[in-house]
Amino acid sequence: MPDRAALVTGASSGIGLTIARALAEDGYGVTVSARRAEKLEDAAKGLTDAGLDVNPVTANMSEEDEIKGLAAAHRDRYGRLDVLVNNAGIGIGSEIAELDTKRLDLQIDVNLRGVFLMTREAIPMLREAGREHGKALLLNMSSIAGKYGQPWIAAYSATKAAVVGLSQATQGEVKDDGVQVTAFCPGFVATPMTDWNEAVPKEEMIQPEDLAEAVRFLLRTSTHCLVPEVQFVRPGDRM
Ligand SMILES: NC(=O)c1ccc[n+]([C@@H]2O[C@H](COP(=O)([O-])OP(=O)(O)OC[C@H]3O[C@@H](n4cnc5c(N)ncnc54)[C@H](OP(=O)(O)O)[C@@H]3O)[C@@H](O)[C@H]2O)c1
Repeated sequence: MPDRAALVTGASSGIGLTIARALAEDGYGVTVSARRAEKLEDAAKGLTDAGLDVNPVTANMSEEDEIKGLAAAHRDRYGRLDVLVNNAGIGIGSEIAELDTKRLDLQIDVNLRGVFLMTREAIPMLREAGREHGKALLLNMSSIAGKYGQPWIAAYSATKAAVVGLSQATQGEVKDDGVQVTAFCPGFVATPMTDWNEAVPKEEMIQPEDLAEAVRFLLRTSTHCLVPEVQFVRPGDRM
């Protein structure tokens, strides 16, 4: 059984998969979760084939029961939670006048409600770990669009701004329990989510490995150092 354990949502591709790999390489047992089972199994196989300890659990972050099941499956496998990465998210581009309610609700459900519910289910385990070693980490994936609202992705921007607020509020509740809460606010990252963007080549985007290195940094700071948010921007991005 590994000494430390992490749970990463949205871990079947992009940022989540890269952070999961980095944590597993650093000795964590990692529950990797995503919505689509086959894609998740493929991603998990890539990690286990590299000798890493991962536990794939399918869960749709818009479904409360599945979120509860995910937390329980993680506890059953590893018995502890040192790092939670609330990373699963979706962005649907549309002007406000054209966005139907279903697509609005979907973004709120996955990007905000799912983060809230996953946090609620995980807080007891994070507190346990934080009280043990003073450096449990709750990482919430926001976006630079959560800092500066962007036209055409208004619903996404609003959910990501809410994630920053939720992170700050959560930090206040767990600050005496050795749990650090950090919101990541990246601009364009080279993942499948930015495939639509033909104007910016992938090699000129922020790399998922940049975010994984930032997770390592957060885990190495001293116990009295909190980092409420990290913005990742490209040269020329709005700051
Ligand atoms: N790429 C960027 O430029 C960028 C910038 C700022 C913030 N972000 C944020 O970073 C996070 C990861 O994005 P990414 O760029 O790595 O995208 P990605 O490669 O498309 O990965 C998204 C992940 O989220 C999962 N997911 C989506 N809907 C889900 C649901 N309802 N339940 C459970 N899992 C779900 C996907 O699994 P399935 O395929 O199975 O649904 C996948 O594993 C998101 O929160 C995104 O908003 C990305």
